[in-house]
Amino acid sequence: MDKFVVHGGNPLRGSLRISGSKNSALPILAATLLTPEPCIIHNVPNLSDIRYMLQILQHLGAEVTFENGTVRVCAANIHSETSYDLVRKMRASICVLGPLLARLGRATISLPGGCVIGDRPIDLHLKGLETLGAQIEVEEGNVIASAPRLIGSEVFLGGKFGSTVLGTDNIMMAATRAKGVTIIESAACEPEVRDLAEFLIKMGAKIQGQGTRRIEIEGVDFLRGVEHHVIPDRIEAGTFMVGALISGGDLRLTHLAPEHLGAVTNALKQAGAEIKIEGNEMQIRATGPLKSIEVITETYPGFPTDMQAQFCALMSVVPGISVIAEKVFPNRFMHLSELKRMGAKIDLEGSTAIIHGVDHLGGAPVMASDLRASAALVLAGLVAKGVTTVNRVYHIDRGYEKIDEKLRSVGAVIERQKE
Ligand code: UD1
Repeated sequence: MDKFVVHGGNPLRGSLRISGSKNSALPILAATLLTPEPCIIHNVPNLSDIRYMLQILQHLGAEVTFENGTVRVCAANIHSETSYDLVRKMRASICVLGPLLARLGRATISLPGGCVIGDRPIDLHLKGLETLGAQIEVEEGNVIASAPRLIGSEVFLGGKFGSTVLGTDNIMMAATRAKGVTIIESAACEPEVRDLAEFLIKMGAKIQGQGTRRIEIEGVDFLRGVEHHVIPDRIEAGTFMVGALISGGDLRLTHLAPEHLGAVTNALKQAGAEIKIEGNEMQIRATGPLKSIEVITETYPGFPTDMQAQFCALMSVVPGISVIAEKVFPNRFMHLSELKRMGAKIDLEGSTAIIHGVDHLGGAPVMASDLRASAALVLAGLVAKGVTTVNRVYHIDRGYEKIDEKLRSVGAVIERQKE
């Protein structure tokens, strides 16, 4: 297992290219199962989660290559059963359920396990597919779904914590081949859902309302193979935006989609950041001391839960009291205890972190518990006095392409070592 050794105190300065979006690429790769024809997907980040998804596609019988950010998939001959060993590694593997059911009329998927950011049910995915006429049984840890032909219907996808991203993806993919019209109410509006819809439309799907709370899908008989560029990763971009500010640096981010970063940009401007946007580039720095802020995570276009941990790290060193409330995954606070080991002063009340900004953090050995939490610890390490060792960085490798190399290229002192 690798670890990162970070020497704090070096401002990030220079230019960074933002990679393609992991959360967009994963369902788009799953969607290639909907057609027997070859698909070509560009701007795919080289991450362990992506490689797991490609293994799942291969296991299902698809031919797959991945070179220089381009994936070629041909799912001409596939079967419907996934392997537990692959599925348990990544929750996003659930999004092969909709495409398999639509294409083959059946699918067997191992239930994805829980994870450290809390219980992550799939009840809304299953309820949605049942509404389209699928029969679903859960046996020995497997979801067994069957439907000789899915039938379009009205599907309400709102849950206790708002809409569901992968749930919306699954139902939308299933509905592309259903008989008649499906309407998804309380759909997720995330840019990644929209990107998947654009991919499906190129394939020949009839979809309207993507990016809104109501998506309408008219089923078609056949989807064709197509070529697509995945959108930029807004969470990677947001993480580097925080990196620029926490280290007192000045970064130019290129190949990003600033329009997907409204809530993050707004929060950082409130905190005092200077942000200039020109086309698909952004310059970000702090011109004076930052101010404390209040943030609530919400579904898009609200502030993303995937940026909550990084903001906790930033606000730990901003004078005053910041408040960060988590409304999407209420238990997603594993990073707080590690930040506290570095000297942060944070109280957790229910699912709200109350952060008392301190003068400085101190380097310490810390443990990465999930993807975004690990990013937060690396960010904290950039500003901490002394050396921070972030263990278990396989979490960060799931979602950030070569983060250590990228950070080094703009002045960070960070080294990857074998544990
Ligand atoms: C996706 C993202 C993840 C992000 C999350 C929320 C991918 C691969 N992952 O995850 O990075 O943090 O959106 O923006 O795109 N829920 C239910 N029942 C369900 C499904 C979800 O109660 O059937 C709950 C979840 O527990 C959570 C909330 O709904 O509290 C939102 O989860 P959801 O949007 O489904 O997250 P994912 O799609 O799994």
